[in-house]
Amino acid sequence: MKKKLNIGLIGYGFMGRAHSNAFAKVNHFFDLDHQVVLKAVCARDASKVKAFAERWGYESAESDWKKLIERDDIDVIDIATPNNTHAEIAIAAAKAGKWILCEKPLSMDGEEGKRMVDAVAKAKVPNMVWYNYRRVPAVTLAKKLIDDGRLGRIFHYRAKFLQDWTINPELPQGGAALWRLDVKAAGSGVTGDLLAHCIDTAIWLNGGIDKVSAMTETFIKQRPHQLTGKVEKVGIDDACAFLARFKNGSLATFESTRYARGHKALYTFEINGEHASIFWDLHDLHRIQYFDHRDEGQVRGWRSVHVSDGDHPYMKNWWVPGLQIGYEHSFVHQVADFIKGIETGKPASPTFKDALETQYICDAVLKSGKSHQWEKVTSIK
Ligand SMILES: NC(=O)c1ccc[n+]([C@@H]2O[C@H](COP(=O)([O-])OP(=O)(O)OC[C@H]3O[C@@H](n4cnc5c(N)ncnc54)[C@H](O)[C@@H]3O)[C@@H](O)[C@H]2O)c1
Repeated sequence: MKKKLNIGLIGYGFMGRAHSNAFAKVNHFFDLDHQVVLKAVCARDASKVKAFAERWGYESAESDWKKLIERDDIDVIDIATPNNTHAEIAIAAAKAGKWILCEKPLSMDGEEGKRMVDAVAKAKVPNMVWYNYRRVPAVTLAKKLIDDGRLGRIFHYRAKFLQDWTINPELPQGGAALWRLDVKAAGSGVTGDLLAHCIDTAIWLNGGIDKVSAMTETFIKQRPHQLTGKVEKVGIDDACAFLARFKNGSLATFESTRYARGHKALYTFEINGEHASIFWDLHDLHRIQYFDHRDEGQVRGWRSVHVSDGDHPYMKNWWVPGLQIGYEHSFVHQVADFIKGIETGKPASPTFKDALETQYICDAVLKSGKSHQWEKVTSIK
């Protein structure tokens, strides 16, 4: 008999759906000692949350997250709500002894993130942050190739995350679906929303970042606010580009914007090492491009590796070799690794503490965007 693991999900938007899909599938594809149970979902609108529960197979619904945390029949609290709610919910869940999954970015800023890290450490509860790109098999393969030493010394890291959905100046800020434009709900703009992903992948693949020099811009300075109905100042960064020096001596450029006409979610990174280079593109997420200078000259060139064979990360759990998987599977992998980590006593990353490192880098980037100086990244104690 498997042990039941009762999930209490908070938030049923984009990520609430991605997580629910992962919880529903994980036991079909991964061997775990626990059986995930969709026990309860919570959001503020009682009738909408009930409809979501019925559609996705949750046993019950709540409209107040505090009530959900009080319930004895909930083991895991999964936070899929806007950024300004993460800390309060996570700290309460830790005090109640729940296991915690929290969406990224961990917090509004490093100071708040540190309080969350302290809370889970004090309560000794398992915790993880949904930086799901680590678990796209091609990205996991890139990590393996780097750790195996195939690239040799790394010189350059280059990442971009480009979108175009906020160019219209009439687009309001705040409220349902548009909380990302409201600094009070989001904490920052593209830095915490998109670059946080790029930074998490980068520090996982290439180690810590020592200092950064950034430029940020808010192209549309005022927007109507959906909740107040008034035209209000926009407080988020619409675009951000920064230079970084990694602790291993390599140099990096990061760029993100929601003003790159034609791009919806173009996340790419390239890493150049002494022997080899790797390039990855979210639009072609099941491939990595790999160049190895040590190949015989006549056939040397960029290879496009279709990451779908049984010996590629995670792939033996899915279909037959050659058949690819997609975006949603990275969340299934993350749940599987989280549970496996608890079962084996080797917690899966990124934990809250790992995600705090990204938060500190975001803080330094935003600070540099204002100071126009290089800023040192606070180190994790
Ligand atoms: N890992 C990823 O790739 C990824 C992608 C998108 C979003 N995110 C993160 O996930 C989180 C949610 O983003 P989203 O795109 O799903 O947002 P969304 O707007 O689609 O959904 C947010 C949900 O939270 C609910 N909510 C808001 N305040 C609440 C409260 N006080 N109590 C209960 N429910 C509340 C809303 O009703 C809604 O269901 C954010 O932190 C975001 O940064 C991560």
